Amino acid sequence: MPHKFEPTNIELLINNDRIKELNPVQFLRENGLQEGMCFADIGCGPGFFSIPAAHIIGDKGMVYAIDIQEEMVNKLKQRRPPENLKIIISQENTIPLENTAVDFALLAFVLHETEDRIAFLKEAKRCLRPQSILLVVEWEKKIEDKGPPFEERIERDEAEKLIEAAGFKIQETASLNPSHYKIKARK
Ligand SMILES: C[S@@+](CC[C@H](N)C(=O)[O-])C[C@H]1O[C@@H](n2cnc3c(N)ncnc32)[C@H](O)[C@@H]1O
Repeated sequence: MPHKFEPTNIELLINNDRIKELNPVQFLRENGLQEGMCFADIGCGPGFFSIPAAHIIGDKGMVYAIDIQEEMVNKLKQRRPPENLKIIISQENTIPLENTAVDFALLAFVLHETEDRIAFLKEAKRCLRPQSILLVVEWEKKIEDKGPPFEERIERDEAEKLIEAAGFKIQETASLNPSHYKIKARK
């Protein structure tokens, strides 16, 4: 069974060094996040992507910052997120959002932590509007002195297969840096 990110290490997720590796504002804009959108950050942790997303989408949009672990969203609350960001606690394969509620769903470093990856992806798909964007970010399958253990990492080809098996159409796959890759897909 894959393990969930250990909340006692939460500061690692909002460390400034992460921005040098993957700038969240630039990354989200380049992948199509725009003013006025409804954005779901599923597995949001303490908000490394959710808070910048709320600034990009502005008051006409909404960010749903969703996580299964209360410690994560408590930290996000302490960071005083803007008013267009709503915090939601979810369950393993259940996201308490209406069907087709969002224009863009981000799964950043969460897919490898889920118990049933296809069920989780299908639940994200249920929340997305037709043609809207799914963006998955994961760790390259290699041994590193940071990130999840090798056995829990998902090979890029395998992640593509899972995303397709959940019913998405893959649009683009790319390396982001030596440790991370992205897969962008449409519902
Ligand atoms: C490695 S952290 C990444 C957090 C954030 N996306 C980031 O990049 O900073 C993974 C997060 O996914 C959450 N998570 C794991 N399984 C989940 C699930 N089934 N549904 C929602 N969140 C989940 C964990 O609680 C944790 O906060």
